[in-house]
Amino acid sequence: TESSSSSIAASDLQSLTLVCLEQEPSLVADFLMEIGACSVSVTDYDKDDDEHETPIFAEPAVVMEDWACGRNVWSRCDVTAHLPASFHLEQVVQLVRDTFDMPQLEFRRNELVSSQHDWVQHVQSSWKPIVLEDGLFVLRFPWHTPQDVQEALQQDANKNNKNQVSREDVVELELEGGIAFGTGEHPTTQLCLNWIRTQVMHLQDQDKEGKIRVCDYGAGSGVLGLAACALSKNAEAVGVEIDPDAIRIADANAAVNQLPMKSYLPPFIFGVENDDDTNGGLEDAESASILLKAHNRLGTEIPMLPDALNGPLYDIMVANILAHPLVKLAPTIAAMTKSPGGQLGLSGILSNQADMVLQAYEPYFDSVQVAQESNGWILITGTRK
Ligand SMILES: C[S@@+](CC[C@H](N)C(=O)[O-])C[C@H]1O[C@@H](n2cnc3c(N)ncnc32)[C@H](O)[C@@H]1O
Repeated sequence: TESSSSSIAASDLQSLTLVCLEQEPSLVADFLMEIGACSVSVTDYDKDDDEHETPIFAEPAVVMEDWACGRNVWSRCDVTAHLPASFHLEQVVQLVRDTFDMPQLEFRRNELVSSQHDWVQHVQSSWKPIVLEDGLFVLRFPWHTPQDVQEALQQDANKNNKNQVSREDVVELELEGGIAFGTGEHPTTQLCLNWIRTQVMHLQDQDKEGKIRVCDYGAGSGVLGLAACALSKNAEAVGVEIDPDAIRIADANAAVNQLPMKSYLPPFIFGVENDDDTNGGLEDAESASILLKAHNRLGTEIPMLPDALNGPLYDIMVANILAHPLVKLAPTIAAMTKSPGGQLGLSGILSNQADMVLQAYEPYFDSVQVAQESNGWILITGTRK
């Protein structure tokens, strides 16, 4: 359909946000799709509002289940639709108001999304370098300039009312997140980074020259192992990961930062039906099949953890996965942690899942405890018996 305005191309999209304070957002979202929206997203209306935002934590399947059952994920939602430029937005809003009997429904008209839009540039400019631990760690993406990093450090110092850390003391990592988890925003990654820093510093103080061996189990982008290596030239890290794409990214991140970390597939002999520990803690058939495909890929260039690295070698064992796989992985993780004395840091665990993880690790580790909590997620630590 031709657009009425000469500045709007027929292929352009306009974006409209409806504020669903009471109405079930999934119904409104479905309705918008029915009338021709190209995409609809539902987001938290109270996001970043300290007073009203209520974080919701659950493992992904649980959130999806709630959603599928038509239960609200947030009490107040923004429903944003991308609609063809030819649509009359006021008419769309009126249609929703009439259909759902919401005469007061508020809406926002967003910027026109031009078909000429440079999406890559748009997405990149929305990601700022991530400053952690009062400026001691900076995680940046490849396109960030030194100026971007400087600005992010300054902003963080201003926000926390602190002086900016001198640049020589800042540990900077360049991360190509891609599809691998671990770009630094998640509370669990931050809990682990904080813990790793203390462990590396402690071991370095004990023995200035000794090698510090780190295992990053569930390495994702490799952020945790790489941080350990960046913190001490004595540290060397091994990543274990079931996702071959993440392994490629973790290895690329190690290369770009020139740090001694290499990631591998776990070397388990497993079967999907097999419910003992030989399946490496894989919770469901889907995860098992990812690993099966990775192992079976003909001529795969992704190696399995070699025997020489699969033993009680690691001074620091960090695993940021999820509670259920962590429980199953307890014997495997214990078998790779230096005995006695190796340090354990686990995250990806919700506060209400603490007991099951504590119980699984107590047979192998002393002082197993919840060491920290952030936004509903916890860090469990222990020392290998
Ligand atoms: C939450 S991400 C953590 C990434 C990164 N370590 C961090 O802290 O940000 C968990 C990672 O563990 C991997 N994973 C899940 N189950 C695993 C298993 N049984 N063995 C090894 N890796 C696993 C996932 O593929 C994912 O990349």
